[in-house]
Amino acid sequence: EKGNYRHFMQKEIFEQPTVVAQTLRSYLRPVEQQVALPQIDFDISAIDRVTIVACGTSYYAGLVAKYWFERFARVPVDIDYASEFRYRDPVLQPGGLALFISQSGETADTLAALRHCKANGQTIAVVVNVPTSSMAREADLLLPTHAGPEIGVASTKAFTCQLAVLAALAAHFAVKKGQMSREEEAAIVHHLMEVPASLNEALSHDAEIAAMAHLIAPARDVLYLGRGPDYPLALEGALKLKEISYIHAEGYASGEMKHGPIALIDEAVPVIVLAPSGPLFEKTVSNMEEVRARGGKIVLISDAEGLAEAGEGCMATIEMPKVHPLIAPLVYAVPVQLLAYHTACVKGTDVDQPRNLAKSVTVE
Ligand code: F6R
Repeated sequence: EKGNYRHFMQKEIFEQPTVVAQTLRSYLRPVEQQVALPQIDFDISAIDRVTIVACGTSYYAGLVAKYWFERFARVPVDIDYASEFRYRDPVLQPGGLALFISQSGETADTLAALRHCKANGQTIAVVVNVPTSSMAREADLLLPTHAGPEIGVASTKAFTCQLAVLAALAAHFAVKKGQMSREEEAAIVHHLMEVPASLNEALSHDAEIAAMAHLIAPARDVLYLGRGPDYPLALEGALKLKEISYIHAEGYASGEMKHGPIALIDEAVPVIVLAPSGPLFEKTVSNMEEVRARGGKIVLISDAEGLAEAGEGCMATIEMPKVHPLIAPLVYAVPVQLLAYHTACVKGTDVDQPRNLAKSVTVE
């Protein structure tokens, strides 16, 4: 039931503080300030390589997780789209962990990749929203997201719940590998516990973003830029906009823009910049200057500090709460979802059932 919401997608966007909290509850012990994973019957500290495989939005969650695994656990991560992974004859050494991320647990390419990894001696971990799904049944380590049923074809709450589980997994892995101290683990638990409140704060900008959608709706093309763990969010923002508003959009790593896509920039191409303040911010500001010098119109999504520094001269800004860089991808998911949602509403498209798309892709 949609309740007071116009669309399932809108309802699911607004459910995120609740379902992310629900998901975190089963992966964190707030009192002990520890990460708590389900019983694992293999030695996780012996794992020296992680292979992540998924499709679409779930793949973007995997891209964020790659940053976390490498940063925290210092373990090399290979990641690929399931449809590519299957056919490229990947090198799988014994002792590897293969991690599959899927809302439905039934995506044909991801499931086939899982079976390929299993046959090649990998330990199989699965982050999945449907606990009775094929992937859930075939996992050695089942890591459920507790997002509840996701009806809107465009994935929203499943994505942020995936990120919550993956952050906890990366921290647990780091502790087991001796790469993370008790103090660092406690700090991460603390930051993750703050996520639901930060999601609420991000959602409080809904009306502003709805107004902003009128600036995006007339565009033929939109560019999304992000760096580091927020680069996958640029990809996710572009995917959301494409699939429900049918506006062509591309996500790029901010620093990659001058290697090609900058040729597209003019006053008709809105550029959405996802940039929390922090060590990477200055670099992104210079990328914004490059856009501005070519007449590009910028929507800057940042925190108060970032907006004070670089908000002037932007077509629009959206203020996010100041969050730890670790959890920024979870929080910055909200404005990109809302911007896509409201743009689609302005265009009058069928938000919950976009053309040509199916909720679960069970053909290869
Ligand atoms: C985008 C979207 C798709 C799915 C993809 C994978 O909004 O929903 O890109 O993320 O089809 O689906 P799952 O996660 O069920 O494997």
